[in-house]
Amino acid sequence: MNACIRAVVRTAIYKGLEVYGVQHGYEGMINGDIKRMYSHSVSNIVQRGGTILKSARSMEFKTHEGRKKAYENLKAHNIEGLVAIGGDGTFTGAKLFFEEYGIPTVGCPGTIDNDLYGTDYTIGFDTAVNTALEAIDKIRDTAAAHDRIFFIEVMGRDAGFIAVECGIGGGAEFVMVPETKTDLDAVVKSLKNLRKTKSSSIIVVAEGDDAGNGQTVMQKVKEKVDDPTKDFKVTTLGHIQRGGNPTARDRVLASRCGMSAVEGLINGYTYHMAGIVNQNVLYTPFADCIGKTKPILEDHLKLIEILSI
Ligand code: F6P
Repeated sequence: MNACIRAVVRTAIYKGLEVYGVQHGYEGMINGDIKRMYSHSVSNIVQRGGTILKSARSMEFKTHEGRKKAYENLKAHNIEGLVAIGGDGTFTGAKLFFEEYGIPTVGCPGTIDNDLYGTDYTIGFDTAVNTALEAIDKIRDTAAAHDRIFFIEVMGRDAGFIAVECGIGGGAEFVMVPETKTDLDAVVKSLKNLRKTKSSSIIVVAEGDDAGNGQTVMQKVKEKVDDPTKDFKVTTLGHIQRGGNPTARDRVLASRCGMSAVEGLINGYTYHMAGIVNQNVLYTPFADCIGKTKPILEDHLKLIEILSI
């Protein structure tokens, strides 16, 4: 997010615009927490996780009154266009706000979940995957040393993109994702077969999987395997996936999206997200980003199955 903010601020200044930063997202728009930003305001942040502008899930922006207050505050600062960095919730709000008050808004895809249509990757995803992968590599050492079956729960809300990439990169035996129906009997059967060749297993569970979270899935599988000699463990990686220094790939993506958002506003885009598809900048209407589903690649799931033998 910081690399994106930096790109927005500096591109806007480069293009001769005045730029303001809103603290805590839509909450700050409602409360008038809006400050002029300069080139030096975004110095020394490209490498930092989190966001210098802070973030919030605003309930008040969901109300008509809240959006009205936000509009009045923007008007008071003569703000003519917005760049909104976020995911589904951010763009749902931005779409509504544009429809009601006509303030042009271009979005940047900011979520670790990678679940936005209109961009191959979202800002934060690559960093989250690499953080989770580092943890999985470390857990694997214990799994191997103690012949254990580890269930590792990763984030992603209703999407399995983090789980799939961690699964491939971390050499998991299974990956459970919300996009496909999880067949626990099949998992148990394979685990029993694998036991002939492998003494330990890594199973990556997306937090939103239809069979349950990491703990629930582990319990169900454990009961079905019914073998007291087997040691089952669960690790929930949680919020470590949302912080830390961003990877090079994320910094480049964030910088490109931030610059493209400002250019998009200048070029007349009004309710679009600036994403990157096949290496090129693409502006996709918010309605599509929110309404259309980015599919999990079937090839990736097959790859995990083939490589787990
Ligand atoms: O949407 C991003 C995300 O990190 C999800 O992967 C996760 O389910 C959720 O946010 C966690 O939200 P919070 O930090 O509010 O608990």
